[in-house]
Amino acid sequence: AWTMANFRDTARAAIRAQVGSGRVICGLSGGVDSSVAAALIHEAIGDQLVCIFVDHGLLRAGEADEVIRVFRDRFNIRLVHRDASDIFFAALEGISDPEQKRKTIGRLFIEVFEQEAHKLGGADFLAQGTLYPDVIESVSARGGPSAVIKSHHNVGGLPERMRMKLVEPLRELFKDEVRELGRELGLPETIVGRHPFPGPGLAIRIPGPVDRDKVRILQKADAIYLEAIRAAGLYDAIWQAFVALLPVRSVGVMGDGRTYEFACALRAVTSTDGMTADVYPFDMSFLTRVAGRIVNEVRGINRVTYDITSKPPGTIEWE
Ligand code: XMP
Repeated sequence: AWTMANFRDTARAAIRAQVGSGRVICGLSGGVDSSVAAALIHEAIGDQLVCIFVDHGLLRAGEADEVIRVFRDRFNIRLVHRDASDIFFAALEGISDPEQKRKTIGRLFIEVFEQEAHKLGGADFLAQGTLYPDVIESVSARGGPSAVIKSHHNVGGLPERMRMKLVEPLRELFKDEVRELGRELGLPETIVGRHPFPGPGLAIRIPGPVDRDKVRILQKADAIYLEAIRAAGLYDAIWQAFVALLPVRSVGVMGDGRTYEFACALRAVTSTDGMTADVYPFDMSFLTRVAGRIVNEVRGINRVTYDITSKPPGTIEWE
């Protein structure tokens, strides 16, 4: 019978057979797919695997630390953590256009990844967490409507440029199977059950120019919102939930004074594949509680809205 335990054994043997005594590099992002691929490959070949975590400074609060804690400290995986946030913020300065943000981040990501791979003396193989749906999509629907609307970046183009062969142990799996495999491998639920997160990160949740201060403000609001969602037991019922920091200042009152700070939008949707989505119907009392906490605890935000747009005609992200 096909079980995940069998798959794990077979995949481990296949990785060993493919890689031999070669060296493998894997880009780690904190997402489910690259995390499971890294854990599986590490189980197969140990220190022949080195993971590179290009930290663009645009992750959620605490997530960079979690990647390091889980992979380096718990799994003992060789992990290069490159804090490249200075480079990313410098390049993003003054850029408002969403596609320009994506291109800038995608290009820098590849540059920094290559630098780190070079410092390691290169490798024979590049590991990727490609799933079955990605394989299908790349042969049948490349350039489909959503690809035209938003150029979703991953590390496309890297293997050819770096002349490495690909190791893609998840090519036959669907997302729910990858999650199951991750649990089987002992990855924590916070990683395995994680909502999808875009490669360009918080940059596309800040319409208009992005800077460190805005990212810090957004991270705080987003952490409060996600903590409340988890505490209410709603995380797994939602496809994606996040805060977008709006490029709008609004007037408020705080004590005796007038405030003039940013507005933000809470977003939460249900979906099965991200192609269509419905707004999540929170109780109003949940929303007002979260709004109260954000305005009281996050300096820089004095107004909270809830985005009730479905997809289509909206998109899940704001950019
Ligand atoms: P939209 O906003 O188009 O998003 O409804 C659909 C799904 O794709 C994710 N998304 C991205 N993922 N790079 C990514 O890796 C991107 O540039 C990007 N843009 C959107 C989005 O989070 C949602 O899951």
